[in-house]
Amino acid sequence: MRPTPMVESMNDGRHALSVRNLVVDFVQDTGTIRALDGVNLDLHAGRVLGVVGESGCGKSVTARAILRLLDRTGEITSGRVFLDPGSPEQQDLAALDPEGRVMRAVRGGRIGLIFQEPMTALSVHYTVGNQIIEAMRAHGDLSKAAARERVVTLLHEVGIPRPETRIDSYPFQLSGGLRQRVGIALALAADPEILIADEPTTALDVTTQAQILALLRRLQRTKGVALMLITHDMGVIAQMADDVAVMYLGRIVEFAPVAELFTAPRHPYTRALLRSVPNLRAVPRERLATIGGAVPHPGARPLGCPFHPRCPEVIAGRCESEAPAGISPSEVGASCFHALAETAHAEATA
Ligand SMILES: Nc1ncnc2c1ncn2[C@@H]1O[C@H](COP(=O)(O)OP(=O)(O)OP(=O)(O)O)[C@@H](O)[C@H]1O
Ligand code: SF4
Ligand SMILES: [Mg+2]
Repeated sequence: MRPTPMVESMNDGRHALSVRNLVVDFVQDTGTIRALDGVNLDLHAGRVLGVVGESGCGKSVTARAILRLLDRTGEITSGRVFLDPGSPEQQDLAALDPEGRVMRAVRGGRIGLIFQEPMTALSVHYTVGNQIIEAMRAHGDLSKAAARERVVTLLHEVGIPRPETRIDSYPFQLSGGLRQRVGIALALAADPEILIADEPTTALDVTTQAQILALLRRLQRTKGVALMLITHDMGVIAQMADDVAVMYLGRIVEFAPVAELFTAPRHPYTRALLRSVPNLRAVPRERLATIGGAVPHPGARPLGCPFHPRCPEVIAGRCESEAPAGISPSEVGASCFHALAETAHAEATA
């Protein structure tokens, strides 16, 4: 296996967002649960980062932490979330007041969020038009009439038929697919540079799912946004992602460009995910038939390599007590002794 190059074409200097060593704890009566244990990732303008892993790996907590939308019991204990990293305007979102002026301007303004269930972001009490107009005007200086005109254009862009009339519909008058299109329009209202989509098609039927994914890909490309696409579905990853971060128990355990991840997966967990989806259909949310068991609760994190109790390639006497080094942000690699040894060998012989 070859050494770990930086992903090509990432070196255009246009990181949109960099997450560094992000740790999130939930404080409960029964103790503290470490949901994120040092997450590193980069979002790049014009690229799609797919984030994949079984249920409970920390995908949604990562998205919510970036946007400072964690439940009250959740806390960023350490780490940074740089917007415009490396530029004079760089800001650490992790250090901001979640309800402060700057964070409210970033959320929905510079970073748009698309939920699995669009009603999470929409109100039943207002027309879709009024909700998108409000989002547009909250983040930009527009008259109501100008905003309404732009919303019609936006609804057209997201594939809503007859947008001039649909703008006055209430969400409950729309099908699930149209509601998700409205959810995407809402996320795009303020023309964000970054989009975070958390399982945006999981609740939809297969045909609608394919249409919404195609729409997201088209919008992402034409607008040049950085898209972080969270999914448990390797098929969605194959179709959508440029790069992939595989999560396990609150850490990124493998990072690779999508083609490389599918042809030469480095982490035993990634291999198990791929084996369990013969036709690249959905990864089971609860169980991986090929390795059995489920993701341990973060409150009961195994010692050593967190994957060792389920790993078919476990090194007896080592993996139970020693944790492999994490991977560097945006560098192709996996946090596993086997992969690290192969990388070291390849570098030594290069
Ligand atoms: N509000 C909360 N209070 C306590 N623990 C939480 C809370 N939200 C998340 N967690 C913990 O964080 C872990 C990661 O949760 P998260 O929702 O990020 O998983 P996920 O990867 O998005 O899973 P899914 O695929 O089911 O959406 C969970 O296992 C849970 O233990
Ligand atoms: S470090 Fe050991 S337990 Fe962890 S994934 Fe690699 S082989 Fe498996
Ligand atoms: Mg989730």
